[in-house]
Amino acid sequence: MENNKQLSYRNKIILAPMVKINTLPMRLLALDYGADIVYTEELIDYKLLNCHRKVNDTLNSVDFIDKSDGTVVFRTCPREKPFVVLQIGTNDPSRAAMVAKLVEYDVAGIDINMGCPKGFSLKGGMGAALLNQSDKACAILSAVISTVSIPVTCKIRILRDINETVSLCKKLAATGIAAIGIHGRRIHERPIHENRNNVIKAVSEALEIPVIANGGSKDIKVYEDIEKFKIVTGCSSVMIARSAEKNCSIFKRDGKLEVPAVIRDYLHHAINYDSVAANTKYCVQNMMGNVHETELGRTFLETSTLQEICDLWQLGDYCREKQKKMNMLRFEERDLACNDQKRIKPNPVDETQDDINSLKCMYIRSLYPMPEDLPKTKLLNWAKTHRKPLPKYHTEQFEKLFKSIVTFDNKKYSSLFWEKNKRCAEQGSAIVCLYFLNVYDMEYLKINGILG
Ligand SMILES: Cc1cc2nc3c(=O)[nH]c(=O)nc-3n(C[C@H](O)[C@H](O)[C@H](O)COP(=O)(O)O)c2cc1C
Repeated sequence: MENNKQLSYRNKIILAPMVKINTLPMRLLALDYGADIVYTEELIDYKLLNCHRKVNDTLNSVDFIDKSDGTVVFRTCPREKPFVVLQIGTNDPSRAAMVAKLVEYDVAGIDINMGCPKGFSLKGGMGAALLNQSDKACAILSAVISTVSIPVTCKIRILRDINETVSLCKKLAATGIAAIGIHGRRIHERPIHENRNNVIKAVSEALEIPVIANGGSKDIKVYEDIEKFKIVTGCSSVMIARSAEKNCSIFKRDGKLEVPAVIRDYLHHAINYDSVAANTKYCVQNMMGNVHETELGRTFLETSTLQEICDLWQLGDYCREKQKKMNMLRFEERDLACNDQKRIKPNPVDETQDDINSLKCMYIRSLYPMPEDLPKTKLLNWAKTHRKPLPKYHTEQFEKLFKSIVTFDNKKYSSLFWEKNKRCAEQGSAIVCLYFLNVYDMEYLKINGILG
């Protein structure tokens, strides 16, 4: 019996999970080009359980934000909700169930990774380690299935023996999973090894639930190859990773696009969803292939901000405009929140104090991709170079908002903008200090939307 309450896994062409690649822009791009279902990258249960869910009105997204460092661990949006499957890395039934519950209303399905052969997965009893602990694997699936009302699947690699693989799949299917993804390689095999399509076929013939064939990228160069892969594996659905990583338009029925066009389409989504520059760069680099061989590639390697990357594909102005708008919205949103708080309590930081050099600056994490670029680090290094005493920070908390004053060289600096945590507030005050020290100029603050 299929435990498929909404999403169907029959006759589907799917973007397979890929760490660092399958963030929101790539998933949206795959949907644009015709993928029916898109998997997230593997997200480790501990990491997600340390997140809080936040509706992001500025981006029209839902963000799962790490409580410790404020980074976005998982960003999704209404458009992909009916098609997105979140893949969990786990070795524990109750943690897996808790994660599934946390994201249940934001995704269409849950997948458990049972195929990752990487050291950290195997050592942690996750990924392919579960293939040798079928009772644990089944307990994880059962726990998740009984907790959420959306379909649950798993993705495995094959075992050494074809019959053992079929038996394992039957056992997993008996838990009530909606489908099973099978990568036709053994745990320690690499992409150069042949994908054992016959094993996938044997599983597909033995199970009633949909089997999703995976591992065929080497032979999937054009759309028609997807159909061939379906036929040789006897599966109704196919899951594609590396071919899509290199050129996501593989999902287009009417033929692939040239890579530069795909990069531009990708960058549009990256801009619209305020992607982290480092992640965008990683994905674009994978599409470009050997970057060292071309002038564009070498210039690309020098980029560090989203704007710089976008400039190379004539999307710099669009990026700047969009970032400016997003930052204005963020300012307004935070100001509103701040004003609400002020009605409740008196302002502990006296903004009218004349001995504080202040400016309304917002700390935008994505502007500082390298640790040495961070305003606090920059200020610290400036102090060392100029043989000044090190800056000292004092932060006031006001309900859920924070404001910091940095004392440096006997002067005080603070941003009039209330931040959402102490770390951001300190960075904000460092920005103001760096402005008064002439390290940042007004133009820089304005262009990057730092100034409110
Ligand atoms: C960059 C990269 C990251 C991957 N990350 C994951 C992952 O997070 N979870 C997973 O189950 N498999 C992951 N895989 C494996 C793929 O999903 C897929 O099983 C494998 O690449 C074989 O399919 P293909 O021939 O279509 O590439 C990853 C593969 C690549 C190339």
